[in-house]
Amino acid sequence: MQILGVDIGGSGIKGAIVDTLTGQLVSERHRIETPQPATPEAVAGVLAQLVLHFNWTGPIGCGFPAAIQHGMVRTAANISKAFIGTNIDKLFSEATNCECHNLNDADAAGIAEMHFGEGAGQVGVVLLITIGTGLGTALFTDGNLLPNTELGHLYLENGLEAERYASDAARKLQDLGWKSWGSRFNIYLSAMEKLFWPDLIILGGGASKKFDKFKEQIAIKTTVKSAAFLNQAGIVGAALYAKSKVV
Ligand code: BGC
Repeated sequence: MQILGVDIGGSGIKGAIVDTLTGQLVSERHRIETPQPATPEAVAGVLAQLVLHFNWTGPIGCGFPAAIQHGMVRTAANISKAFIGTNIDKLFSEATNCECHNLNDADAAGIAEMHFGEGAGQVGVVLLITIGTGLGTALFTDGNLLPNTELGHLYLENGLEAERYASDAARKLQDLGWKSWGSRFNIYLSAMEKLFWPDLIILGGGASKKFDKFKEQIAIKTTVKSAAFLNQAGIVGAALYAKSKVV
């Protein structure tokens, strides 16, 4: 089945048509700048543009950077607070005239990795962490997702919120080298290890591509791998999620 997968981020809204059987993109990826301010209506408008670009009439899956409970946005750490309480399944379906299913962006990336990437066939507990503007998490046990874990907002023993201390945005903002940022990230990983005892941790998002530059700073027992998908995981996972929801 083909589904339009979309990854909604703070700076760009990216989409592509996905073959859900293979996890491959069957179109070019198309990116539109996230409107500023990124109000629900403005984002819905960009989604409608994407749909027009692909001349799309089928189902859509969207990864969105917030906790999404049955289509309802519950949090807004790095997006417009106006989203809180918005039913984006409804808003985006009406704006595009297509059946649109939304989920947390890290959950979407995790679903793609569990199906076709580093998590495929992995039993036990897998934690995927996306390292970008925020720290997104997706937690699986025997391949089943526990949705909306917001573990980037955990407070570390140093009293700081993990996302403010060890995200890629924190690295850029404080102009940290990969080694000093890697030591910070290791503190976060070690907290995750102590709390969840995962069998595997997969790193996704922009910074995961630089894993070589900070992997020497990672000193936890759990196996840590960088994601197999580079920047397509969110798109592919969102499409797989929508497939599971299509009636
Ligand atoms: C949000 C999460 C999201 C993550 C990555 C965090 O700030 O709270 O919902 O998954 O950023 O975008």
